[in-house]
Amino acid sequence: MLEMRTVTADEFVAWTRAEARAHGNRLADDPEVLRPHFDLGRSIGVFDQGNIVGGAHSHRLEMSIPGASITMAGVANIAVQPTHTRQGVMTRMMNHQIHDIYERGEPLAALFASESIIYGRFGYGVGSLYERWTIDRHHNAYVRPYESHGRVAFVDPLDITKDLPEVFRRTTTDRPGVFQRPIHQWEHDAHAPEHSQGGPGGLFYVAYEDGGRVDGYATYRITGTTLGVNELMATTEEANAALWRFCFDVDRVSTTEALKRPVDDPLPWMLADPRRLQRSTRDGVWVRLIDVAASLKLRRYMQADRLVLEVKDGMCPWNEAKFGLEGSTEGAECRPTESSPDLVLGVSDLASAYMGAVSFSTLSRAGKIEERTPGALLRADCMFAVQYPPWTPCNF
Ligand SMILES: CC(C)(COP(=O)(O)OP(=O)(O)OC[C@H]1O[C@@H](n2cnc3c(N)ncnc32)[C@H](O)[C@@H]1OP(=O)(O)O)[C@@H](O)C(=O)NCCC(=O)NCCS
Repeated sequence: MLEMRTVTADEFVAWTRAEARAHGNRLADDPEVLRPHFDLGRSIGVFDQGNIVGGAHSHRLEMSIPGASITMAGVANIAVQPTHTRQGVMTRMMNHQIHDIYERGEPLAALFASESIIYGRFGYGVGSLYERWTIDRHHNAYVRPYESHGRVAFVDPLDITKDLPEVFRRTTTDRPGVFQRPIHQWEHDAHAPEHSQGGPGGLFYVAYEDGGRVDGYATYRITGTTLGVNELMATTEEANAALWRFCFDVDRVSTTEALKRPVDDPLPWMLADPRRLQRSTRDGVWVRLIDVAASLKLRRYMQADRLVLEVKDGMCPWNEAKFGLEGSTEGAECRPTESSPDLVLGVSDLASAYMGAVSFSTLSRAGKIEERTPGALLRADCMFAVQYPPWTPCNF
């Protein structure tokens, strides 16, 4: 008989070790570093004869949604020991956790999925997408003449906390799906042991400055003849062009790669030969509307309108209802209603449309939405439209 409960302070190290093992890793770092960021009251441990066989955790954090920034639950450390998989351990933990988050009054939850097959069944939907890129050195010319007035300079890792967090913040304003990297994370990165170790593959930071102001930065590693861009953030068009030019033109680099670009990144439109940029898309953050009515109320809506949405949610009876939504750029109201629905859809698909990751029309063509009132799909698309599609450059 398996027991499920919170983890005690004494069990914390065993719990982190079990999580690492579930991912096929040995525990490398000193787990005590993680303890301050760990809320035992929000932990879950599943025990078999005293041994930890499953675990999960959640904590409060801020995420941007269309038109607002909200406090919600960040879900992490979901792991089941390979000795106990496919026996319903995760299902038990997810059920408990979703109810726990609801009772805490947090309207949404988010997580990063190790595999995209796992979390849809628990009502999570893809909340943001990103693109992976590869481009050959011979085909990375810009279509417009390039001229730079500023300068690109290396930043000592110890100095990254000075200007870079503000560039990150300004670059991601108005973008749904973003978690701001907390300052303690920047400080942790600044002091990462790799910066003082020798050998190839090190992480470099460069910033673009113009008139004494830092308008952008890039972080990259070189492996063989490939330059991999970890992060490139620019608040101006000049900084963006200069930083990509820099990443393309480093000597001996034959290929530039980038792992997490937004789907509306301007770079493909800056290239003279855009087909040469190899692009693939991947799911970013996954979002769960824990409380549909509260979530819909928190968002802002591009076009003022009202809709009745009938939501299907097998796990959360409070969400299995018809909701009357009235929203605009100024605010929104959302209440259960007895009116007949304009659209009928599942809670995970609503999460994706809510974030702006997909349109209602696309979901309908995927067979996932029923349009009961003719024209409601288009109205919903206009209402939920976003200027910038969701992007999650920084995990929590
Ligand atoms: C992913 C993981 C947590 C699943 O735990 P679990 O206890 O085996 O999951 P459950 O038994 O509750 O499975 C629930 C359902 O999801 C399915 N499922 C779970 N993980 C799956 C996977 N990786 N691939 C395909 N289906 C999966 C199960 O088949 C089951 O389906 P069913 O309800 O139709 O029978 C576990 O395999 C694990 O810890 N993996 C390694 C670490 C990891 O990837 N963690 C997730 C981090 S985001």
